[in-house]
Amino acid sequence: MLEIALMAIRNRFQKRRIGKKLFENSLKEMKRYWLKRKLKIVTFFVETDEENEKARRFYEKVIKPSDIITIPNIFNNHKAKIFYFKKLSDNSH
Ligand SMILES: CC(C)(COP(=O)(O)OP(=O)(O)OC[C@H]1O[C@@H](n2cnc3c(N)ncnc32)[C@H](O)[C@@H]1OP(=O)(O)O)[C@@H](O)C(=O)NCCC(=O)NCCS
Repeated sequence: MLEIALMAIRNRFQKRRIGKKLFENSLKEMKRYWLKRKLKIVTFFVETDEENEKARRFYEKVIKPSDIITIPNIFNNHKAKIFYFKKLSDNSH
């Protein structure tokens, strides 16, 4: 399982599809890495705060997750964290 942790685009460059390109290219690079090492990655996930509307829209649109799980964050006043999972059926994007 692979986590893509923390991505951010500087405010004034947001909404120009830079985040989408960064995400897709990062996944391609990582795929090269794991195939070279004969690793098998079956799922990847990202997480964000439930209240982060921008990130939620972004992940829903760009990842098209196969599963979405909401978990209360016991370390932060039980505000929810949302996990987006994507299955990589044939080890590709
Ligand atoms: C989330 C983030 C990385 C998105 O990057 P971005 O470059 O602005 O996103 P893109 O322009 O590639 O958007 C791709 C799609 O996501 C959705 N989206 C992105 N920003 C959105 C917004 N503010 N409102 C609604 N939808 C949005 C859109 O559907 C968009 O597709 P479209 O252009 O066809 O409409 C950026 O908003 C950011 O850095 N936020 C602050 C840090 C953060 O919260 N990171 C994620 C949590 S760890």
